[in-house]
Amino acid sequence: MSKFQQPGIFSLLNYFNWNRKGISNHSLKKFLHRSDEPHISKEELSFQELSKGKQHDIKLSKEQKVIRSLIIKTNKNVFYTGAAGTGKSVLLHSIIKGLKAKYKNSVSVTATTGIAAVNIGGQTLHSFAGLTPQTQHYEIKDIIKDLPKGAEDRWRCLKALVIDEVSMLNADLFEKLNCLAQYYHNNTLPFGGIQLVLAGDFFQLPPIEKDNDKVKYCFEADSWSKTLNHTIVLAKVHRQREEEFINMLNEFRYGYVSKKSNQIMSNLEKAPNYDNDGILVTELYAINKYVNNINTAKLAELPYQEMVYEAKDWEHEKRGRLQTLLKNCLAPKRLILKRDAQVMLLRNVTQDLVNGTKGVVIGWFSVNNWEFYDDIPDVLTEDESLLPVVKFINGQTKIVPPFEWKLETKFKEKVEKVASRLQIPLMLCWAISIHKSQGHTLERVKVNLDRTFENGQTYVALSRATSLNSLQVLNFSADKVFAESKVIDFYKSLTSSVNIA
Ligand SMILES: Nc1ncnc2c1ncn2[C@@H]1O[C@H](COP(=O)(O)OP(=O)(O)OP(=O)(O)O)[C@@H](O)[C@H]1O
Ligand SMILES: [Mg+2]
Repeated sequence: MSKFQQPGIFSLLNYFNWNRKGISNHSLKKFLHRSDEPHISKEELSFQELSKGKQHDIKLSKEQKVIRSLIIKTNKNVFYTGAAGTGKSVLLHSIIKGLKAKYKNSVSVTATTGIAAVNIGGQTLHSFAGLTPQTQHYEIKDIIKDLPKGAEDRWRCLKALVIDEVSMLNADLFEKLNCLAQYYHNNTLPFGGIQLVLAGDFFQLPPIEKDNDKVKYCFEADSWSKTLNHTIVLAKVHRQREEEFINMLNEFRYGYVSKKSNQIMSNLEKAPNYDNDGILVTELYAINKYVNNINTAKLAELPYQEMVYEAKDWEHEKRGRLQTLLKNCLAPKRLILKRDAQVMLLRNVTQDLVNGTKGVVIGWFSVNNWEFYDDIPDVLTEDESLLPVVKFINGQTKIVPPFEWKLETKFKEKVEKVASRLQIPLMLCWAISIHKSQGHTLERVKVNLDRTFENGQTYVALSRATSLNSLQVLNFSADKVFAESKVIDFYKSLTSSVNIA
């Protein structure tokens, strides 16, 4: 199979952007409306339905309704929690609708990761707040000094802030968000008097820190108890129906493995016998190396031509910090794509196309002659540049141009660029890391627990599945099930402050 290197592609494309209007090429239009669209798994479609509001059809349970009305009818700050699959995100959809009716456009819907944000139709907490993984560590006065104008405006007009997957928010960032809200609202009340709605489960993945001993959960922040008027625990699990499965997951959540659960787990080593109905199995792994291996193997199985995109890296001669940039940048040095490849977007583009949105490559767009190719032609002119065309799960089809990730620092009072990577903002996603799977419901899952390293990681992976019949688990052992003692103590101390029974 031949490979096509496209070294000149980036220089050609600086002008090309996502919102480019007036694409009138006939073949492009025809292509975008063609009916033989490549297969997207049912699972992907269910994500689409989820983010497009299918939740509104779900009848909220009594306990969910109590929380909803507390948040909508009062201005109280509420943290609600519960095991994986208790419907925290489903409830959040309904709450967001109510908050938008109450506060109009002054509600910001966020989550701590891109994928979780997709799940609730919001944006990442960082992009809302105007922060990056670097600037969040700055002193608050420096954050305020450098905050982008758009972020300042968002903070100023904010009346309610919603954050999903709050277990991944650390104490330091929680304090800084509090300070930003107080500053931009000129109000010393917690979070400047805006209404705060937090959802999540601290037994799931903790904040990502370089040094694990230093993980400080947001419930450990000084301002946590001053801020939250109510903490409520959802009890009923909806994602799974089998009592045996639910009980086992509840044990694992607290880091306990009974003999019976051990037996169930050893029965799950065998691959289930699935009907050949086109529903894809999503594979979950603890470490990125395994994720990459599976994705490479799946790509090799596709009978189409490869397209290779080499990233263009740059660093400042004296103050270059490329390695720091690359630690926070998921875009690979060498991205290989084919038609029908399952991909995930790595940047925020619009409200519906964000870091974490999944899609499938459906063809190629030639920048030189504005021509569409279903597959890469055997002969390409030397300087011909092809961009992937991706159909995303929300139904939108987009040409995906390169994106520049930048690291900027202050030097002599001036902000300067010290490193950058230019690459197509996509990654393969047949397999995903357990970290990226948090928040998802997956119909067919294969979990490989080799090298799990984090509190709650095994629990998060297994609790994505809806049934024991659609779950395969490799490399399970009881020592891979553990929970953080601080979290166990926190949950023991919780008593719901409102009656939701
Ligand atoms: N009231 C309900 N009635 C029926 N099904 C529900 C209800 N609430 C949630 N579900 C279903 O349960 C599943 C899990 O819901 P959801 O993703 O909101 O849980 P979660 O608590 O956010 O889980 P996680 O902690 O893993 O993010 C979804 O498939 C959803 O459709
Ligand atoms: Mg959720």
